[in-house]
Amino acid sequence: MSPSGVEPTVEVHLTPAELRQALHDDVRRGLLAPTGEKRLPPVWFYDDVGSELFEAITELPEYYPTRAERLLLTSHADDIAGRAKAATLVELGAGTCDKSRILLDALCRAGCLETYVPLDVSQATLCQAAAELGGEYPGLAVRAVVGDFHRHLDRLPTGGPTLVAFLGGTIGNLLPDQRRRFLFDLGCRQEAGDSLLLGTDLVKDASRLVAAYDDATGVTAAFNRNVLAVLNRELGADFDLDGFAHVARWDAEQRWIEMRLRALGSQRACLSALDTEVAFEDGEELLTEISAKFTREQVESELWEAGFVVGGMWDRPGGDFLLTLASPYC
Ligand SMILES: C[S@@+](CC[C@H](N)C(=O)[O-])C[C@H]1O[C@@H](n2cnc3c(N)ncnc32)[C@H](O)[C@@H]1O
Repeated sequence: MSPSGVEPTVEVHLTPAELRQALHDDVRRGLLAPTGEKRLPPVWFYDDVGSELFEAITELPEYYPTRAERLLLTSHADDIAGRAKAATLVELGAGTCDKSRILLDALCRAGCLETYVPLDVSQATLCQAAAELGGEYPGLAVRAVVGDFHRHLDRLPTGGPTLVAFLGGTIGNLLPDQRRRFLFDLGCRQEAGDSLLLGTDLVKDASRLVAAYDDATGVTAAFNRNVLAVLNRELGADFDLDGFAHVARWDAEQRWIEMRLRALGSQRACLSALDTEVAFEDGEELLTEISAKFTREQVESELWEAGFVVGGMWDRPGGDFLLTLASPYC
């Protein structure tokens, strides 16, 4: 219980059965299709172990995005809060809600915030964060939502002017079509007075980008391979995690980093829950994540196409990362 007596709530919109079905669908589409390259969406990284590994990644010397975004938030959160004047802060893919505290503090200082709604697929991480925040922010209603930001935007509680924050460069994990659809859906749900705060990683020198996704200590490699551990546990599969190499590659044409797992030798893995098996040829790759990098102009034009007008953009000289505040032009 928080000191004010306002107990954080957790609404679960992803039951174990729904999660299982979604995983089965993604595996059938991405691993078992007769043609096309093998791929899985990055959402499957984030079981409890994956969420902890992601937290470890954010502290790696090579992984600049978290530090860069935190600096921007620290410098500009009061300006953002003053413009957004939000009574409700919704955060998509909130994870541990660590950086969110900078925004929460600024919105509290602005005297307008009543409710914080963090949404994430990772239930344990979210529940722990909600419990901690309940203690740290007396008087703030914390209403956590376990859900998928592709499917559950319509379940999010709102009330008064709402600021939707999508931080961490997570928007870059969506394929361009998915990104268009997602931003459009978000725009359709916003009303006059609402706003969106988007954190995007910026295009930069390829060697820095690749190093951020292929650190010297192998934490990112463990995060990448964790998806195979998830398949082993959830599908009764028998992937040999050491049989796959971690690959991080910059695609200059698409302007995104790809994370892949490359089979070291030909392999077969049994997927008991689906009563089938999957074969990899030696060197064959599984695409596990893209992380698109942006320019300011691209962010502004993609937001415009989705129904948003940009009200403010913040980056720093050298331009590692960008925060953009936008509102619907309805
Ligand atoms: C790159 S991490 C960013 C975490 C945090 N926002 C930050 O800035 O450090 C992506 C977060 O989004 C969550 N996530 C990934 N796919 C999701 C989905 N489809 N629906 C909801 N949450 C998702 C993950 O569990 C993880 O917490």
